[in-house]
Amino acid sequence: MWAPRVAKGKAMLYDHAIKGFSGQAGVMPPKGGRTDLSDDLIEQAVDHMVAL
Ligand code: HEM
Repeated sequence: MWAPRVAKGKAMLYDHAIKGFSGQAGVMPPKGGRTDLSDDLIEQAVDHMVAL
C-alpha cells in the first residue's frame, strides 16, 4: 500500500500527515491525532515510515 504513497514524494506526505488526509483506505487524522506534537516530529515519523 505504501509504494504509491512514497511515489507522491515526501513533501506531499508531510503535508498530509500534518494537516490530515482522506483517501480510499480511510481517514488520516491531522498529526495522527497528536496535534500537540511539532511539525518537525511528525516529519521525522514520516521519514521513519517511508524508510521501512
Ligand atoms: C504520527 C503518527 C502518524 C503519521 C506520521 C502518519 C502518516 C501518514 C502518511 C504519511 C500517510 C499517507 C498519506 C498519503 O497517502 O498522502 C498516512 C495515511 C493514513 N493514515 Fe496515518 N499517520 C499517523 C497516524 C495515524 C493514525 C493514528 C491513524 C488512525 C487513527 C492513521 C490513519 C491513516 C489512514 C487510514 C491512512 C490512509 C489514508 C488513505 O490512503 O486513504 N494514521 N498516514
